[in-house]
Formats: sequence, C-alpha cells, structure tokens
Amino acid sequence: MSSSSSDNKPSDNQLANKSQAWSALFSEPMSDLVKRYTASVFFDKRLWAADIQGSLAHAEMLTAQGILGQEDHAAIQRGMAQIKSEIEAGSFDWKLDLEDVHLNIEARLTELVGIAGKRLHTGRSRNDQVATDVRLWLRGEIDELLILLQALQLALVEVAEKNAEVILPGFTHLQVAQPVAFGHHLLAYVEMFARDAERLTDARRRVNRLPLGAAALAGTSYPLDRERVARTLGMEGVCQNSLDAVSDRDFAIEFSAAASLVMVHISRLSEELILWMSQSFGFIDLADRFCTGSSIMPQKKNPDVPELARGKTGRVVGHLMGLITLMKGQPLAYNKDNQEDKEPLFDTVDTLKDTLRIFAELAAGITVKPEAMERAALKGYATATDLADYLVKKGLAFRDAHEIVAHAVKTAIGSGVDLSQLPLAELQKFDARIGEDVFEGLSLRGSLNARNILGGTAPAQVRAQVARHRARLA
Ligand code: ARG
Repeated sequence: MSSSSSDNKPSDNQLANKSQAWSALFSEPMSDLVKRYTASVFFDKRLWAADIQGSLAHAEMLTAQGILGQEDHAAIQRGMAQIKSEIEAGSFDWKLDLEDVHLNIEARLTELVGIAGKRLHTGRSRNDQVATDVRLWLRGEIDELLILLQALQLALVEVAEKNAEVILPGFTHLQVAQPVAFGHHLLAYVEMFARDAERLTDARRRVNRLPLGAAALAGTSYPLDRERVARTLGMEGVCQNSLDAVSDRDFAIEFSAAASLVMVHISRLSEELILWMSQSFGFIDLADRFCTGSSIMPQKKNPDVPELARGKTGRVVGHLMGLITLMKGQPLAYNKDNQEDKEPLFDTVDTLKDTLRIFAELAAGITVKPEAMERAALKGYATATDLADYLVKKGLAFRDAHEIVAHAVKTAIGSGVDLSQLPLAELQKFDARIGEDVFEGLSLRGSLNARNILGGTAPAQVRAQVARHRARLA
C-alpha cells in the first residue's frame, strides 16, 4: 500500500472533524496547521498490516498471562479481522484527527468491539508499538528485496554465460588496459550484488528484534512475556534495554546504508551501459522499451532507464543522510523526531524494488556487439603486459621487461600498427630472446586465455564462476 501525494492532503472535512484525541489535560484544541504538521497517518498507514500483526501478538500474550480475558481477546481478534478487510477494501476511514496509524486502528477497534479495544493498549505505548511496526514491515521488505536481488544476479549470470568468450577492452582510468571477457565484466556486478544481499541479510538480524514490552521508555509493571511475543512474531530476539528499544533507529540507518550500496552498484552499471550504448563506444544496444526519444532530434534513442537509476541513487543516498542526521543529537529515549524515519525509509524501499525489477529485465534485453568491443580492444595496445610477461618467462626481470615493451609500443604507435602486427625481426630488436611463440600471447584471445587463474578473465574461469553462481543462487 503506498499513498499518493494527493492522499497526503487531508480534506477540509477531516480537519473540521476535530475531536479531543488526548486527555482532559488539554484546554485548547490544536490548530489545523499543527494537526497537519504533527500527524503521520497519511504516510504511516502503510504500516497497518504490521500494526495489526503486532497488536494480535500482544493481545495473545496478555491473554496467556491472564492480563486480558478470553472474551476480550476474541473480541479483539474479531475486530482486527474486520479492520483488515476494511483497509484491504479501501473503505477504512483514516482520520487525520487520530494522528497516526496506531491511534486510527485502535479507535476503530474500540468502535467495533467496545471496551476490549480500550484494553489492548495495556502494558504498551505507541513508542514500543511503532518501533515494532517499522521493524516488522522492514523485515518483510528486506525479504522481498533479497528475492529481487537474486533475480537480478541470475539475469546477469545468464548474459555473462553467453558472453564468456566475447572480448571487451578492460579499462583503468577509462583508458584501454587489458582485454577482458564481457562475461567476466558482468560477473563483477554479480559479486557486488551478492555482497549487497549478504549485507541485507545481516542487517535483517538486527531489524528482527522485538521492542514491545519496553512500553513508553522504562518497561512496564505488567507481567508481560516478551519472549513469547517475539516467538509469535518470528523475531530473533528481544531488545534488552527499554530506553534503547524505543529510541534507536540504527536498524533503519543500517538498512539504508546497505540500500545505498545497492544503488551505488546499480549506478556504476548504469554509467557503463550509458557509455557502452553511446555512438563513441557502440558496444551494446538496449531494448527500445528501456529508452526514449527526443522531442526535437528524430535520430535520438536515449538510455533513460539507466540514467534515471543513476539519478535515483542520489535520492537513496540522500535518505541515508536524512536518517542518520535525524538520529544525531537525540537524547534518550523516544522523541517525535523519529516519526520522520518513515518517508525516507518507504521511499528507499520503493525506489530499490522498482530499480531491481527493471534492471533484471533490462539485463536480459542487452544486445551485445562483439565486433565493436574487439575493435576497441585492438586500439589500445591491450596486450602490452602480455609481451612483458612473455619476456619475464624468458628470464628478464619484470621491471626491465616493462621498459623494453614501452619501447616496442612506441615503435608500434609510430608505425600505426598493433604489437601483434610488428614483424618478428622488428620485435627481436628489442630483445633477442623473443621467438615465434610470442604471437600467441599478443593476440587478444591469447591474452584472455592466459589469465586462467581463480578470479581471472579466461573464459574457462568465467564458466566456472557462472556454475558457482548458479549453484549458489539455486
Ligand atoms: N507516530 C509516531 C511515530 O511515528 C508514533 C509514536 C508516537 N509516540 C509519542 N510519544 N508521541 O513515531
């Protein structure tokens, strides 16, 4: 459930409906502006399922502990089932007057089942309630993100396998460096996304702990069974300090940091796709459905999707900055500042999900142009290191070989040819030990095949990695 921006604007009717939400202590009503400023329901209603789930687990435990009667428990279960169907049907009447998702659901529950609804909040505060809701919600989202990350990795592995033999100029400083297999290049991103998945999985362990029972800040005098609630909710543990439980949002920050890295990796891949698709490179084509045209230049096909993803990376990293700054300087325990954790978190999740989905499709729709890649690899003396390695195998020290090859490259540049096109006699002028067998290594393919070491670019290694990833992702 996401809320559109128009949802965020309460109607006049909702504003006019002001009820006294707090207590007899308050002698004047809130102004409409303050009401709008402090309310969160128009975005935090997205937490409704987690809120109901948490409340049901709390009620079940209260009953087991003899704090709540069986009848009240049954009434709460019945009321919550009705609320769930109202929300799903879109008929639930969210009220700005009731500030947030928690008070809206509780008020409706009381409307439906009477006093049992009023008993639900025993031993609980919105402070431990909201912290629980956000954690439950985020846990579910992490699980979905992990599935999407897996699909993206599989899509890339697929393209990598098809391109295990395709030669791409590998760059350092964006200057042609050494030939690499295009498949090897793509598998570099698979490694990044695999680590992203590890990070999310690790963060999930700390997200998945239970604040309920911390109450407002100090714990509660009711004999709650917190471990039982944690078990019911499938949480891995109970937050052990009530002040910490209600106040810290480090789990959300940590998640945002992991999410930012996902986007940074997506952004790097985007940058390469954009470069590769440009006329100057011409290495790939992206399927038309991921591109747009220009309103003035009829010849244009622009890689909008990768560009947008690169742009949205700024947005997600921005949310990380927002959340971490939100936390800084907050004294213990709960402060209303924390209500500001939700929108950045929601937007981070939405942005990531859309981006990962679209990139899995986009990867599958890449058209590779092997001739253009190979032509570009031939331009930059990409096998110079191979000549140096050849000389080392003939007994030279690497530094000396490096120097000799620099002279050979200079000569080749002067004659406008590749190293592999210099005649043997010419090469032998640089070192007499050079023999006919040098040419094998000077070819792009020979260079590629030579790097047959764990983690290297030889097609045999690429295939081995493809198999490893397939097994890992199965
Ligand atoms: N809407 C609030 C939030 O998101 C819920 C907790 C409110 N607690 C309070 N003491 N005002 O943080």
